[in-house]
Amino acid sequence: MSTSSSFADVPRVTTQTLQEMRRAETPIAMLTAYDYTSARILDAAGADVLLVGDSASNVMAGHETTLPITVDQMIYHTQAVVRGVSRALVVSDLPFGSYQGNAKEALHTAIRMMKEAGSHAVKMEGGAGVAQMIRRIVDSGIPVMGHLGLTPQSIHKFGTYKVRATEASEAEELRRDADLLQEAGCFSIVLEKVPAALAADVTEQLEIPTIGIGAGVGCSGQVLVTHDMLGLTTDFNPRFVRRYAHLADTITEAVEAYVTDVRAHQFPNADESY
Ligand code: KIV
Repeated sequence: MSTSSSFADVPRVTTQTLQEMRRAETPIAMLTAYDYTSARILDAAGADVLLVGDSASNVMAGHETTLPITVDQMIYHTQAVVRGVSRALVVSDLPFGSYQGNAKEALHTAIRMMKEAGSHAVKMEGGAGVAQMIRRIVDSGIPVMGHLGLTPQSIHKFGTYKVRATEASEAEELRRDADLLQEAGCFSIVLEKVPAALAADVTEQLEIPTIGIGAGVGCSGQVLVTHDMLGLTTDFNPRFVRRYAHLADTITEAVEAYVTDVRAHQFPNADESY
């Protein structure tokens, strides 16, 4: 088993790097990013993959779901992230409504994401229903990451954000979908909010890496929404989120101190003036 440091030295993470990491059993660290400044920090800190997630709809724009975000908005966020990255692989979500209709429409959106935004790969939610679109995109030379389990773009179909595939039939369907996505050419699959044992089985069954979120430690890698793991969001507390920092508190303290200084004529001082 390799150490992660051999992959930390990789000048550019590619889909092949992820395949090698999976073979070497080196866990892949993926995080979301939506802007240049954060992308620079996350990239320099060693994140292997930066996902320009449609969770931007929630954490950047304040929408309740991921549904409203548009292709143009995803392109804007991706362009900013790509400018901040020198090592990580940048993967962009294709937003709701931009690929489900047919393979031609899906390919058109994926091409925009690559040409206009400069992304390195795209991510799409769903199994059998989108396999045909994935095949068309992959055949055109664009790497695709799949996404199974809890698929937030289908929230109105399921009605809840509960753990998925807890029933045997649903688990069986997820296994079949994972095989289908691999056959369609996906280079990796996100498994969101499914039982850890099922995610570990699916990871074992596949040759491509799985990336878990709320799917246990048996996946080939992990992803979290950066705003959650940094503690910028405070009202979203599912058990799968580990808070590595409490930035909302840090920012609140800093801003309170600034307001106090301004009110007291303590900012700026002589050294901070011309
Ligand atoms: O949009 C997103 O942030 C995602 C991750 C939660 C996997 O799809």
